[in-house]
Amino acid sequence: QSGRVTVVGSLNMDLVIRAPRLPSAGETLAGRSFDHVPGGKGGNQAVAAARLGAQVAMIGCVGDDDNGKQLVAGLHRDGIDCNGVATDAALPTGVAMIVVDDAGQNAIVIVAGSNGALMPAAIAEQEAAIAQADVLVCQLEVPGETVLAAMQKAHALGRTVVFNPAPVTGPLSREWLESSDFVIPNEIEASVLSGVAVDSPESARRAAKVLQQGGARNVIITLGKRGVLVLAEGEGEEAGKHYLPAEVEAIDTTAAGDTFVGGFCAALAAKRPLDEAVRFGQAAAALSVTRAGAQTSIPYLHEITFQG
Ligand code: RIB
Ligand code: NA
Repeated sequence: QSGRVTVVGSLNMDLVIRAPRLPSAGETLAGRSFDHVPGGKGGNQAVAAARLGAQVAMIGCVGDDDNGKQLVAGLHRDGIDCNGVATDAALPTGVAMIVVDDAGQNAIVIVAGSNGALMPAAIAEQEAAIAQADVLVCQLEVPGETVLAAMQKAHALGRTVVFNPAPVTGPLSREWLESSDFVIPNEIEASVLSGVAVDSPESARRAAKVLQQGGARNVIITLGKRGVLVLAEGEGEEAGKHYLPAEVEAIDTTAAGDTFVGGFCAALAAKRPLDEAVRFGQAAAALSVTRAGAQTSIPYLHEITFQG
């Protein structure tokens, strides 16, 4: 049984260099390869949800250029409804410069380009796509006012709202956390949002409690190779469940978090229980880190052995 997921977010062309290690300031380093790979947190999560079983609609903005055309063509190949993807005539499509080292770790710099032109008016225009969604998911690579408008609209319509606050530059006011049902930060984002330095399941539990005090309902903190910490709504003092990760050999962690979020949303939209949705997202993310690139690494439903 599949559900509907609507994504409001970014579409980037990733410009990826593989190098033995990440360069330090002032250093020139010889890389091994250079590729263009479709990415952007919004696009990645849309592709993940689609490949992992959901019917997906994307709301975003590309530029009138080759990168934009390639990104939209890729979404279409995954069966994603792109009626909500606008083309901005003035700005180039968003790009991400990514260096991936031999340990599979990355450093990313993004330039928003046309992602910055996704305005709250787009949310009003795409109200049907939000009203029809079982799950709405947003990140922070498009203007904040647009994200907040989308989440508040979906929340008012009784849709399930998933908020991946990535990237984040500082704490968010209550209205952000209150308009979402699930807040899913990684370790760095959880630290910035809560003021608790998150580097373990224990500190993640403390950070999740701070976020709940700040208005969040369910908090899911992704901890990379330390797994996932889930603090569900209404759980008491000792609450918070730690999910161990699968043991995998990491080739490239780019979009691992996006694969988790997209898989989680697909499972939620299909009315799977929280515990199953988390483990399904983890199984998908584990596969994605064994492959190179963002959207190129996202697995399909038939590849996931864990089915709940
Ligand atoms: O989360 C990974 C993504 O972050 C990359 O695809 C890149 O485009 C940046 O948005
Ligand atoms: Na990957």
